[in-house]
Amino acid sequence: MEIIAIINQKGGVGKTTTAINLACALTLIGKKRVLLIDLDAQANATTSLGVDKNALAHTLADVLLDGVALDKAIVKTKHLDIVGANRDLAGMDVLLADADDAPILLKNTLQNSQLDYDYVIMDCAPSLSLLTVNALVATDGVIIPMQCEYYALEGVADLMATIDKLTQLNPKLHVRGVVRTMYDGRSILTQDVSAELANYFGEKLYKTFIPRNIRLAEAPSFGKSIFEYEKSSAGARAYHKLALEVLKQTEQPSLL
Ligand SMILES: Nc1ncnc2c1ncn2[C@@H]1O[C@H](COP(=O)(O)OP(=O)(O)OP(=O)(O)O)[C@@H](O)[C@H]1O
Ligand SMILES: [Mg+2]
Repeated sequence: MEIIAIINQKGGVGKTTTAINLACALTLIGKKRVLLIDLDAQANATTSLGVDKNALAHTLADVLLDGVALDKAIVKTKHLDIVGANRDLAGMDVLLADADDAPILLKNTLQNSQLDYDYVIMDCAPSLSLLTVNALVATDGVIIPMQCEYYALEGVADLMATIDKLTQLNPKLHVRGVVRTMYDGRSILTQDVSAELANYFGEKLYKTFIPRNIRLAEAPSFGKSIFEYEKSSAGARAYHKLALEVLKQTEQPSLL
C-alpha cells in the first residue's frame, strides 16, 4: 500500500482538485483500490465527490481522538472509498496537542488498520497544522501542487524545512513530485515560474501539467470527478496523464 499526501500550505493551489481526480484516475485507469482521506475541515474533497459531509457517521476526528476504528469512518462511493471530513476536524489541533503521541496518531492508525488498498491519498488543509504533520508522518511520499504564479515558491522553503525535520519521525518521507496546476502556457509569467520550478525541483517536477480548465472547476458542484463529469475535457486528459506518471513511479521506484 502506497500512501501519498497532497500538501501545500498555500491556499487554493489545486490540492483538492488534484487529490480527487488523481484518486479517481488511479481507480478508473490504473484499476487500483484507492482510499481518499479528507484532512481538511472545509471538506471540499468530501463534497466534491458527492458525499454529504453532514451525514457522516465518523470523521478522522473520531478516529484519532476517540479511537473509533478507521473502517467505521470509511464511506464507499461508486469508484472510491472515502474517509470524509466536516467541521468536526476544525478544533482538532488543540485537542490533539494534549496527546503525547500527537504527531504519530495517524501513522499508528494506518499501520494498525487492516486496510486493503493499493493507494491511500490524503487531501490536506492549507496549513502546516498538527493534522498536516500527522499526514506527513504517516505518508510515504508527498505530492505538492503548485500554481505557476509570482508567489509560488514563497512558503515552499517552510514546507521543505518541515519535511526535512519530520524525516526523523518518518524516514520514508520524501517529495514524490511537484505538479503545476491551473497552467496557462500563453502567459510569460507562467513560463518563467515554471522554469524556476524546474530549476528548484529538477526531476521531481512532473512532466504533466494541469491546464486551467473550467470543467475541472465545474465538476465538484455536480459531486463528480472530472472523469464522470466530462472525460473528454483537457482537465481529464491531464489528470489521466498525471496518474500514469504516478503509477510509473510506483513501478520503477529506483528512478526516484
Ligand atoms: N486546473 C484548474 N482549472 C480551473 N480551475 C481549477 C483548476 N484546479 C483547481 N481549480 C479551482 O480553483 C479553486 C481552488 O482549487 P482547490 O480547491 O483544488 O485548491 P486547494 O489547494 O485544495 O484549496 P484549499 O487550500 O482551500 O484547500 C477551486 O475553485 C477549483 O475548482
Ligand atoms: Mg482543498
